[in-house]
Parts: sequence; C-alpha cells; structure tokens
Amino acid sequence: MASTGKDASLEFQVCDGAVRPESVLDGVDCSLAEARGIGNEAYTDNAFLALERQRLLSPTWTCIGIGSDLPEPGDVKPVDLVGLPLLMVRAENGELRVFHNVCSHRGVRLVEESGQVKRVIVCPVSLRSYNLDGTLFSTPHIGGQGKHNCEGF
Ligand code: FES
Repeated sequence: MASTGKDASLEFQVCDGAVRPESVLDGVDCSLAEARGIGNEAYTDNAFLALERQRLLSPTWTCIGIGSDLPEPGDVKPVDLVGLPLLMVRAENGELRVFHNVCSHRGVRLVEESGQVKRVIVCPVSLRSYNLDGTLFSTPHIGGQGKHNCEGF
C-alpha cells in the first residue's frame, strides 16, 4: 500500500519501501513558481534509471557516436548507453552498425575497448565469433565454422 513520505525539499510516495519516481518528478513537471528540485535518489535509484530509459531513450533515437569515430572497416567502439552495453562497428562494406555488445551464448561482453578487429569479433569465453554485419560466424565448441547446431547438444 502506498504512503506519503516527506523530504526537506520534496514530497514523494513510498510503496513497499520503494520511491515511486513519477510522484517525485511531479515537482519538476509544473510551472516555475511551483517547481521543486528533485532529490538525490533521482541520480542513484534504479527506479529512476528505468524511468529514464522508458521516457527519454525508448521513444526516440539517441546519438551514441558519429561515423568519423570509426573510419575504417573493422573499427569497433563499445558504448555504454545508460547501462546498456552497445557496440558500434564499421562493417566490411563500410556500413556503420550498432549491436548489443554481448555474446549470444552467455551474455559476456564481447569488446572492452575501441580498436580494430580482423574480419570477426571473437567472444573471449568460448570463442564464438561474429561477422562484422552481426551474423554468427563460428561456434567452435559446438558445431564448428558455419555449423551452429550439434545434434544432441
Ligand atoms: S559466452 Fe561467448 S561463446 Fe560462450
């Protein structure tokens, strides 16, 4: 059940011990004469992070970099977008692409630093590799190059 809490500068609702960010943001979503500052929890609480992702990032495009950051085919640049690990890649055909910077096997981060890769991006764990267009290239510990299924696995 919700209850009302009070901080020195703002009111907020607490539901089962968690701050409800919508009510805290009511203090800034009004006229300047009525507006209040938001509390520190807006910068530290995961509920606010989820709200930012939902309201600010999800509805529209977000610029995470520019093409000149990756001028050559094989250039890669990991980007953290509010906790989402992304990977900018200049593909062999010159297209700039962005992927989740995680392996499809167990979610390991694929690339830690900007740089240049040779033809494929290789997972550091079990060596699953990806072409620069994002397609799976090899699963050496499953089926081998171009063979991504293993009967009975
Ligand atoms: S986590 Fe990448 S190949 Fe296993």
